[in-house]
Amino acid sequence: MDTTATPTDRDIPADIAATLVDPAAYTDHRIHDSYRWLRANNPLGIARPEGFDPFWVVTKHAHIQAISRQNELFHNADRPTTLTNRAVEERVRKITGGPNLVRSLVQMDAPDHPKYRALTQGWFMPANLGKFEGRVREIARANVQRMLDKGGACDFVEDVALGYPLHVIMEILGVPEKDEPRMLRLTQELFGPQDPDTARMKEKLTAEQFSGMMQAVVADFGAYFRGITEDRRSNPREDLATVIANAKIGGDYMPDHDATSYYMIVATAGHDTTSSSTAGAIWALAEDPTQFERVKANPELIPGLVDEAIRWMTPVKHFMRSATADTELGGRKIAKGDWLMLCYASGNRDEDVFEEPYRFRCDRKLNRHVAFGYGAHLCLGQYLAKLEMRILFEELLPRLKSIALDGEVKMTQAYFVNGPKKLPIRFEVN
Ligand code: HEM
Repeated sequence: MDTTATPTDRDIPADIAATLVDPAAYTDHRIHDSYRWLRANNPLGIARPEGFDPFWVVTKHAHIQAISRQNELFHNADRPTTLTNRAVEERVRKITGGPNLVRSLVQMDAPDHPKYRALTQGWFMPANLGKFEGRVREIARANVQRMLDKGGACDFVEDVALGYPLHVIMEILGVPEKDEPRMLRLTQELFGPQDPDTARMKEKLTAEQFSGMMQAVVADFGAYFRGITEDRRSNPREDLATVIANAKIGGDYMPDHDATSYYMIVATAGHDTTSSSTAGAIWALAEDPTQFERVKANPELIPGLVDEAIRWMTPVKHFMRSATADTELGGRKIAKGDWLMLCYASGNRDEDVFEEPYRFRCDRKLNRHVAFGYGAHLCLGQYLAKLEMRILFEELLPRLKSIALDGEVKMTQAYFVNGPKKLPIRFEVN
């Protein structure tokens, strides 16, 4: 993209471009106001926020799907896979020789991507996950009991939503319980580097310090999982770490960095997102007693509640793609090398796809949300996330008589993955 081009009708207003790169805007209505304006006025426009390379902002559901579907024309790995400013990208390129610090499934394209994805795909399919349902239910029951023991009030994020999916994915992966706090901290440092509550370094950082901090987080994951790899090669178990440690690509074990990246995506993507969606459901029900009563009286609505919470919260706000050739979409000419931001949270409020998109409705029919992405990179953990949430609500809702907010909800400041970080609630038990 010509970075010096004079503004045209493709360019989106500077204040809207600034919201897209402002982590604080993702904590309240500002980001949704911007998305709404963009969908109505410039659904495929160019943002030129200060300090960032220009990028197309894709806000319509149909365009997000069209781009995600054409994964040869729109690559994940040629440019940063998540929004990154110019200075940090330069630094990362110096460190790794490429645009990203890690090389997990989302930072890969064909031919590597399908080969690496195939290594664990079977694990994440419903037929295999069924094996874990009993154990997931035990973990859910323990979390529900802990919440009820709080005696009528709790912070749902702190007391349930954070720990429950973390425990499930760590058990499946094979990380011992004593190491869960470390995994939680590393995940929060990875996904929330702009939030003062979760960042590893709280002060204002230069690009060099920022990339150094992120590199240190990745190195910590690497050091931890290297030990797991060695162990599982000599003592294979029935866990996912054993699959990753012993997986072969073209007859050889995965290179060390690829294996670390693989563990990292499973260990991180596997809980923060599910936590946010679970908290989103409770937030919505606490604000709307009618829906709470309806789901309680009609447990068959629980799968709908789960999907609606994932749409409503859309914890993964975006992924980036880049064009591998000149092309056209929505009347716009996109040039080879252009960078595009897929705004899933906007697609999930698209008035052309969702009736009353700003209302939380657990009876929504045909919830075709794009919160799990779309196409070749469609979330590998979607069935696991939905299974965990369904089971938790099956266990929790029958135990509750009422639920209400009990203070201010606080969201994480992050433009990549975010959701509630504080959700104080009051509840009565049946
Ligand atoms: C990819 C969202 C839970 C593992 C993705 C993508 C999104 C996403 C948006 C990128 C899709 C694309 O580019 O088209 C979510 C949400 C979750 C969730 C909203 C919870 C509600 C999980 C869980 C796991 C997981 C529980 C379990 C390990 C992955 C992996 C990928 C991925 C491995 C990369 C797939 C690939 O690139 O081939 N997820 N995710 N996710 N997710 Fe999830």
